[in-house]
Amino acid sequence: MAQSLTHEVLILGAGLAGLRAAVELSHRTEGHIDIGIVSKVQLMRAHSVCAEGGTAAVLREDEGDSIALHAWDSVKGSDFLADQDVVWRFCKAMPREIQLLDHWGIPWTRDAQGRISQRPFGGHSYPRATLAADKTGFFEMQTLYDQLLRYQCFKRYDELFITDIVVEEGRFVALVGIHAPSGETVILQAKALLIASGGGGTLYGFTTYSETVTGDGMAMAYRAGLPLEDMEFLQFHPTGLVPSGILMTEGCRGEGGYLKNNKGERFMERYAAGKMELGPRDMVSRAEMTELLEGRGFPGPDGKDYLHLDLTHLGAEVINTRLPLIREVCIKFVDIDPIEKPIPIRPVAHYSMGGIETDINGLTRVKNVWAAGEAACVSLHGANRLGSNSTGECLVWGGITGREIARALPSLPKPARLSEQSWLAQQARLKAIAGRQGQEDLYVLRRELRTLMDNDVGVFRKGEDLAKALAGIRAIRDRAAHAPIADRSATYNSNLFHALELDNLLDLAEVTVMGALAREESRGAHARRDFAVRDDEKWLKHTLAWHVPGSHPKLDYKPVTIDTWKPVERKY
Ligand code: FUM
Repeated sequence: MAQSLTHEVLILGAGLAGLRAAVELSHRTEGHIDIGIVSKVQLMRAHSVCAEGGTAAVLREDEGDSIALHAWDSVKGSDFLADQDVVWRFCKAMPREIQLLDHWGIPWTRDAQGRISQRPFGGHSYPRATLAADKTGFFEMQTLYDQLLRYQCFKRYDELFITDIVVEEGRFVALVGIHAPSGETVILQAKALLIASGGGGTLYGFTTYSETVTGDGMAMAYRAGLPLEDMEFLQFHPTGLVPSGILMTEGCRGEGGYLKNNKGERFMERYAAGKMELGPRDMVSRAEMTELLEGRGFPGPDGKDYLHLDLTHLGAEVINTRLPLIREVCIKFVDIDPIEKPIPIRPVAHYSMGGIETDINGLTRVKNVWAAGEAACVSLHGANRLGSNSTGECLVWGGITGREIARALPSLPKPARLSEQSWLAQQARLKAIAGRQGQEDLYVLRRELRTLMDNDVGVFRKGEDLAKALAGIRAIRDRAAHAPIADRSATYNSNLFHALELDNLLDLAEVTVMGALAREESRGAHARRDFAVRDDEKWLKHTLAWHVPGSHPKLDYKPVTIDTWKPVERKY
């Protein structure tokens, strides 16, 4: 029998966006609110703790930085696909978010004068990545959770694996999930839902994402009828540690690190001479792949040839104080001390620019559902996000959605009860998954999916490879119906969760590849060999992917908001 609980607001996801929203809701209502915070892991294990290098904000207007410059950098970085009203709002809001965290006690790194430190990041014209060493996300998470603890108005649901976001008659009704430690089914009802459950980068095998980040919130929202926007734009970060994929923060290059090929050349000279290693991520990743494909890399394990990220000239003091995590990870994982030797790196799947479509306030097409952070596509990043704009997005739209929900609550109807029909549908789906019979192996299938995405939907793409990938994804979906759940136990049935995650990843893979196949141009992180140039006439538009039950997704498009800068050629 399911346990049924009700809150005023549910927040699905306990990373930076979710916690920032919870703080805002608590603050605005002076703690007179009842929030449920739901996470499939323990709260402080949200992937946001892995954010390393910094959070972008304009803090030095007196020294030459400006909101307009941050906005322009972001729009140009996005290859003109970002909605410009959204970008302006973000850049204007960011300085206050940095100050708020400062007041709430975050240990920002400081310079000799005691000012908050900032370092250069790719594609930014000014050093504006605000840092707490190279553990920025971890300290931001801790600070927000500390703030939240001042209010006693929330209940944590850790290790609750949500299987369904239920929308009935155009209105959010409930989350239904399985409590991992007990195996009990839980129904959570509320007046309002915020989806802040992160991106979908474990679609790829070589990735910076934690294994737990499987795009569940995006996939459930999509099946509940909300469109996913711009999913073909998946960011490849230029410096993933070989062979694990662990993030080697852009802060390494921000502090002056070099990228070198097997001839010892700083090859970025050939691709973005004006910015060198601090070009935008799409360009640096393409440059690296070109070096590798043309034989100027080092042979690596499992075909993972690599290049060098060289920090040796920075000296021990800089590395130990500004990049301590990088040093620790390199020593532990590859037995290399970056003070003495270069680090083996290559482009790595890192960030979903796309997500659940929202308006500028984070509201979705379902009028009591908001989305924020990487799960959402408010259209801040367009086709290529600038490094250090993502933690900022979580803070700004966590705050905005918290405020918007607080405002909306008095006029939202009381939580509705989950209907018998929805309950039976959820149970039937779970029963069908648990009852799968056959010879297929869930773990092999997930590996195949990720290999296929690595090989055919990577930094460079081609129509024929994308078509092959799409067929492959659909074949894996068919085979998954014959992959039994071996574990029959109720508690911590990670075998069952794996099956549910695979279904989510398959939905996201399908729309990612369909969007990429349809988009016959190259823009930002979507680089087609067969359509090598940007085509503003045909493709200056956002992709929307709609779920069609029992059939393939439907693609649709909508215009980009361009209110300040007309698209021009991107040169760095
Ligand atoms: O390189 C990094 O530290 C990553 C930052 C980001 O993705 O914004």
